[in-house]
Amino acid sequence: MTTVLITGANRGIGLALTRLYRERGDAVIGACREASPELAATGARVEAGVDVREEASVQALAQRLDGTRIDLLVLNAGILRRDDWDELGTAAFEAMREQYEVNALGPLRVARALDEHLAPEARIGIITSRMGSVGDNQSGGSYGYRASKAAVNAIGRSMAMDLQPRGIAVFLLHPGFVSTDMVGGRGEISPEQAARQLAARLDSLGLAETGTFWHSNGSPLPW
Ligand SMILES: NC(=O)c1ccc[n+]([C@@H]2O[C@H](COP(=O)([O-])OP(=O)(O)OC[C@H]3O[C@@H](n4cnc5c(N)ncnc54)[C@H](OP(=O)(O)O)[C@@H]3O)[C@@H](O)[C@H]2O)c1
Repeated sequence: MTTVLITGANRGIGLALTRLYRERGDAVIGACREASPELAATGARVEAGVDVREEASVQALAQRLDGTRIDLLVLNAGILRRDDWDELGTAAFEAMREQYEVNALGPLRVARALDEHLAPEARIGIITSRMGSVGDNQSGGSYGYRASKAAVNAIGRSMAMDLQPRGIAVFLLHPGFVSTDMVGGRGEISPEQAARQLAARLDSLGLAETGTFWHSNGSPLPW
């Protein structure tokens, strides 16, 4: 049986991924800050109290998982704080630091803490954003979010190089523009469709493609 661990599993894309992998018959560990009734209803093993900004909470998760082997790690938890050129005051800079903590350092912190749990030939999917693509940026703005996602792309690529000798593959995945709380329910696809597309990428990509950046629809994205 495949064991999947997903961060930010209580709502949005993380919840949809949890449902999808449970429906496939996988063992799913849903990590979150606070459990939700929807997450509990999936039948996943719920690991609450996991704040990806806090080393102690992530280390505590690693300890609770003692003896558990993870085949697929989906680093999904993330935040979006709006900031544009005309709004770059103290609060915006503070929000940039917060986004860097959650979106860039969060995935690295969780992956490193769970290192001993990663199965040989495990896969790691980092849910990044095409807004982190420097080459694709034609619209500006979103300084903190774009920078945090560009940073996690760099981090994911380094993880890919470091873990390749163990047969572990790392992918940077943009889910699409998805109707979740993050975007106020706007979006072009549902969380369920995003989850199906993300799972399809994680099924089809292998070690030969480790460290690459993809739209969930199967198109490669520029750095
Ligand atoms: N929606 C889109 O169009 C879109 C596009 C591109 C990329 N993405 C990326 O997709 C991922 C999922 O986003 P979403 O659309 O599903 O957003 P969402 O509905 O706002 O869900 C965000 C998830 O991240 C969790 N989270 C936030 N801060 C956390 C922290 N410090 N520690 C642990 N968990 C934390 C949230 O938990 P709480 O309930 O505790 O806050 C929630 O489970 C994010 O990385 C996002 O950047 C989304």
